[in-house]
Formats: sequence, C-alpha cells, structure tokens
Amino acid sequence: MENFQEQLKNRRTFAIISHPDAGKTTLTEQLLLHGGVIREAGTVKGRGSNKLASSDWMAIEQQRGISVTSSVLQFDYEGKRINILDTPGHEDFSEDTYRTLMAVDSVVMVVDAAKGIEPQTKKLFEIVSQRGIPVFTFFNKIDRDARPALDLVDELETVLGIQAYPMNWPVGSGQVLQGIYDLQDDKLVPFKNATTHTEIVDEAMDEIELLRDAGNEFDEDKIAHGQLTQVFFGSALVNFGVTEFLREYLNYAPAPAAMATVDEKMIVPEDEQFSGFVFKIQANMDPRHRDRIAFVRIVSGEFTRGMDVMLQRSGKKLKLSNVTQFMAEERENVQTAVSGDIIGVYDTGNFQIGDTIYSGKKTVHFPDLPTFTPELFNRVIAKDVMKQKSYHKGIEQLVQEGTIQLYKSWNGGDYIIGAVGQLQFEVFQFRMENEYNVEIQFEPIGSKVARWIKSEQLDEKMSSSRNLLVKDRYDQPVFLFENKFALNWFHDKYPNVELEEKM
Ligand code: G4P
Repeated sequence: MENFQEQLKNRRTFAIISHPDAGKTTLTEQLLLHGGVIREAGTVKGRGSNKLASSDWMAIEQQRGISVTSSVLQFDYEGKRINILDTPGHEDFSEDTYRTLMAVDSVVMVVDAAKGIEPQTKKLFEIVSQRGIPVFTFFNKIDRDARPALDLVDELETVLGIQAYPMNWPVGSGQVLQGIYDLQDDKLVPFKNATTHTEIVDEAMDEIELLRDAGNEFDEDKIAHGQLTQVFFGSALVNFGVTEFLREYLNYAPAPAAMATVDEKMIVPEDEQFSGFVFKIQANMDPRHRDRIAFVRIVSGEFTRGMDVMLQRSGKKLKLSNVTQFMAEERENVQTAVSGDIIGVYDTGNFQIGDTIYSGKKTVHFPDLPTFTPELFNRVIAKDVMKQKSYHKGIEQLVQEGTIQLYKSWNGGDYIIGAVGQLQFEVFQFRMENEYNVEIQFEPIGSKVARWIKSEQLDEKMSSSRNLLVKDRYDQPVFLFENKFALNWFHDKYPNVELEEKM
C-alpha cells in the first residue's frame, strides 16, 4: 500500500452548494453511481427501503430524514478518492452548513439553468468566496427549457462577481437539446436521440465564437483562488454531461491544502504529525446516551485507530478508538485516513466546534472557525422557574458547542438566541429537554439584520423600535435591525458610525 503522503495527493474534498431543488441530490447520486457506490438512482434521499443509513440518530433528525452517513460521502473514481460533504438546505439550513464549507478544498455550485442564481446559492457562495477556494459551476436541467446560456454565464459575473470560463456549451435545451459542445476538444457531445435542428447548432456556434472573442482568459491561478469558475452544462437527471464534468473537475480540483495555525505556521498535509480540527458536532445520535459525533477534518499526518491525540483547548489526552468514516455503503470502522478525509469521533462532551486535535509533542492550534451573522432570533425562557440552574448550564454548554448563538437584551438579562436557520432552534430545544431536562419557550423576534457596533461609538439613543440593541456573549453591543431599510436609514442618520457584519 502506498504511504500516506502518496495517498493524500489523490484526495478531493468538496461540498455542493445550491438553492433547494436545483438538483444537488440528483447530481450527488450520479456521482455516487460513477463511483460504483450505488447501483440505481433514487437512493440518496432514503425513500423506501433503499435508505443509505438506518442507524439511530437524533430523533428530530430522523423525522426529517437527515442521515449522518450522508453527511460525508466517499467514493473512488479514476484513481481519486472523493469526499463530498453535505451542506443541507431548506429548513435544515444551519451554521453547520456554513462551517462545513470551512472543511473543504473546493466547491461545486449547482444552478438550475431555467432559474439562474437563486438566493441560497448566493448566500453560500458569499461564505465560500471569503475563503478564496476554487468554485466549479454546473448549470443543471438542460434537458428542460433553459435560459439563454450567455445570460446565465453573465449572471455569475454580475450577481456573484466571479469570472466565468465555460468548459462546454449547451446546444439547445429541453425538447431541442442537441448536446453540449466541448470547448476544449472542440467537438459536440450529442444528446441521445436528439433530432437535428441545424438552426440551433448554428446559433450555439455563433455564441461560442462570441465567447472565444470576448470571453475571459483561462487562468489557473484565478481558478485556484476562486476568482474564475469553470462552467459546465448538463442534466443530472438524465446523466448527461456529468461524466464530462467529473473528469474535468478532478483535473482541476485541488488536493488537500496546507493550513495556517494561530501563530501563522503552515501545517502541510504531508507532515508526519497528525492534526485536524472539529468543524461540526452532531449531537444525540442516540437519545438514551448523550453521545455525539465530532466531525474532524484531517489536516496533516495519518489517522490510525486507537491513536492518542491531544485536544489543544483543554490539554486533555484522548484515544481515538471509537471513530467512523463515512461511506455511502455499509462500512465498518475506519482504519486509516489522511489529509482531506473526515473522521467522525464519538464524543461524550469533550469537543467544541473549532477545536484542534494533534498527535506528538509539538503543539498545533488552528484558528477558531469564523462566527456567522445570525438572521433569526428568539427570546427564550424556561417554562419552569425552579429549573434555573439546569437552564443556565444547558444554555452555556450548547452555546459553547456552537449549537446556537447567545445574546442578551441590553438593559435586562433576557436571553435572546440567534441562528442562521430554524433547525438550530429545534435542535436547541430538543437538547435542552433531553439533556438538561428543561422545557423552554420561545418568543419569536423574527428575522433581523444583525450588525456589531464599536462600544465607543454607541449611544443608547440610537436604539429604537426598528433596531433593537442587544449584547453578544462577550458583552459587545449589537443592533438587530428590522430589515435592510432600517439599516440604511441608520447609515444615513449616523454616517460616521461603523457597523460590522460577521462572516
Ligand atoms: P436538491 O437536492 O437540490 O433540492 O434537488 P433534487 O436533486 O432533489 O432535485 C429537485 C427536483 O429536480 C427533483 O424533482 C429532481 O428529479 C429534479 N431534477 C434534478 N436534476 C434534474 C435535471 O437535470 N433535469 C430535470 N428535468 N429535473 C431534474 P422532483 O419531482 O421535485 O422530485 P422527485 O420527487 O421526483 O425526486
């Protein structure tokens, strides 16, 4: 077997970002089919008996049909080992979705070609774009009538601000889809059973000529830094253009990257010393036990079962024996894993989001994961006033773990919790009841635009019914604006006051 330094060169770790219904699940399935992990489509969403996983995860998640195993899917294709990290959308959206994007080396953006860039794609793209990692674009559903390809490509630049470099080009769409034109090899990949419409071919050839004259230059450096996205067209549903996409993706997607520590040393993946960081904690896999899974992205070295590691934050030594790796197939315990791989460490409460673990003597400390600006807020109270102690303890621990964000009213001590998605509140409530035995009640504050203000610039008179003044868990002042208009109004009224948004 190759040594781990050889193995890690073949790792490709990415997430798919998209707006709900653009076809993320369908494309994932096609990729798994390519990897031979599943044999038929329709299995990922867990309909019927073909579910990917049936372990006993958190009850709330069970109801919603989210599976742990599908949080990370691993398969091999043409000599590469691919790790796809799930970024849930819809109502399952949470800070975990954002944090997962901190653990990948590249991103595939799936866009519905009939719709173009939609809000959730834009949001996720903005998070990714701050990291400056490569983004690959797949315009999906060209088996249906699509918007003009030139418009779609233009939108990448105007809406997202990323340059586009088409790798192939749709020739027609829907009923008259002729195929995709491979711009690298200069040839048409015909769509099966297409009846020829020469006028459509001519039109596409005109567009291609235009692209070649006026389009962006190919620039590998820009691709590597997320400033230029290679663009592909296809249909995940009918498996057209997916193989072409996957091949090119694997050609250009980066292997695991080095990572800087807090003292700005670069930890390279080839380093013998094992290191990694926790980017997500999934709690209460089994409500009878308080265990959870800490998802660790390996940064360097090689994981071996039973190895001793140090948890940097607490200085505690831990043995990594109860660890799973994620594969769509039934999969026994993982033996080894290298940089780019994700391991799931069973945890009884040792880990927090952002923790570093490492082997050996040399201390490794990766920076904290960024804080994300929450958008939804609830005032929270304990139903039973006698349970104040457990209530405070539960909130403190769950906040530390990164389940939700905590704020307090400026003058009182009311607890206000913030999240990027509704699911976080549900998980919080569920865990308060199940782990801390405290029933809580929410008083919705609703959706707000949160902005931090420097203490020295704050005047309490700035607060009004349209911008609620609160403090974060570090007692820093934050305004919760009713909406963007209220924010703009504030900017106009106090032009010298700087407001800060988290990531
Ligand atoms: P998501 O994970 O991004 O939310 O999207 P998902 O793959 O579930 O796809 C959403 C809907 O779009 C599904 O149809 C799916 O079959 C369809 N779809 C995905 N890719 C393509 C494509 O390339 N072409 C066409 N024509 N349709 C596509 P649905 O009817 O909502 O769901 P289902 O109940 O049939 O699964």
